[in-house]
Amino acid sequence: MKHAKIATQISTFSFPTKILFGAGALSSLPSLLGELKIRRPLIVTDAGILPTGAFTRLQEISGGKWPVYSEVHANPTAEDVEGAARAFRRGQCDSVLAFGGGSPLDAGKAIRLRLKRPKLSLAKFDFALDWSGLAPFIAIPTTAGTGSEVGRSSVITMDGRKQVLFHPALLAAFVILDPELTAALPARLTAATGADALTHCIESYTSTVYHPLCDGIALEGLHLIARALPRAVKNGNDLEARGQMQIAATMGGIAFQKDLGVAHSLSHPLSTMCGLHHGTANALTLPASMDFNAARRPGLYRRVGVALGLNDPDDRATIAFVRWFLEGIGLRPGLRHYGVKPAQFAALADQALADSCHKTNPVPVTKKDLRRLYETAY
Ligand SMILES: [Fe+2]
Repeated sequence: MKHAKIATQISTFSFPTKILFGAGALSSLPSLLGELKIRRPLIVTDAGILPTGAFTRLQEISGGKWPVYSEVHANPTAEDVEGAARAFRRGQCDSVLAFGGGSPLDAGKAIRLRLKRPKLSLAKFDFALDWSGLAPFIAIPTTAGTGSEVGRSSVITMDGRKQVLFHPALLAAFVILDPELTAALPARLTAATGADALTHCIESYTSTVYHPLCDGIALEGLHLIARALPRAVKNGNDLEARGQMQIAATMGGIAFQKDLGVAHSLSHPLSTMCGLHHGTANALTLPASMDFNAARRPGLYRRVGVALGLNDPDDRATIAFVRWFLEGIGLRPGLRHYGVKPAQFAALADQALADSCHKTNPVPVTKKDLRRLYETAY
């Protein structure tokens, strides 16, 4: 039994975000903004988005009249948030519209905290303060992976470390999932962001937090990813597969309100210290993490295997499938191939231990375990 004492605890379940989904859904943006009486959003994005067809479509819809802040880094920093908050004030904006991958979305959420309390630095964020009345936030992802569009947290790099700002007030007022916006995403990024979604579904399903609604969502997310991700990698213009991946990524994002596991704790330092893309880092740490967990909790991944389409799978078959699947979409295993050096393992393990994701891992991990997992994934 996964959760032995469910009747003795009180749980809260909430799925509040309005999501508009479908090819061409972006054209509904003006009417959705009108419903919220929004006139002048600040578009928050990164420089890589500006030359894309997706951004051109947004500019067509906005008439090019909304201020744009496009300096968000791949791993957004407190300075990015400061710069965007200044652009918001300068542009006399009334809301934040984040457009892009997980980084602009995370930065977009955090800007509103700075606007509400300009004297409080992000590093001193305090959940207990009053965060009501934040500027409205609209999330329009152009990748399918992070699920940040439906999350209540924002991951910002401060003092060389990824820090999580969490508050229900960070939720988006609405989300637009338009598969046409992801059609031009290169195969490599499609695979990496998709691997992030895969990891969210697996780690949230096996996390120790009681949330059977999210468990069901995570398993259906896996079902979609197993079928759609290879198709989306192979043919970016397959809008059916692109749409299924957007939905699956959002489902992964919803599911991980029950938190994640050790693969994410291992992958966060690989981004901050070694510059790895978050999704790629997950692809490199997930199989070793699953081996570690399954050795201590036999049967943990049976239903994951079923969701992925395997017939009567055990842990071994499920983990072998995940390895094969990740390689099949072009994510070569082995940290050694991505510039990670064994001399970094001790510092990586230090940061991984300080990361909170492993606290909901199905089995507890020590610093020694984390170091050994880096060695295994090497
Ligand atoms: Fe992630």
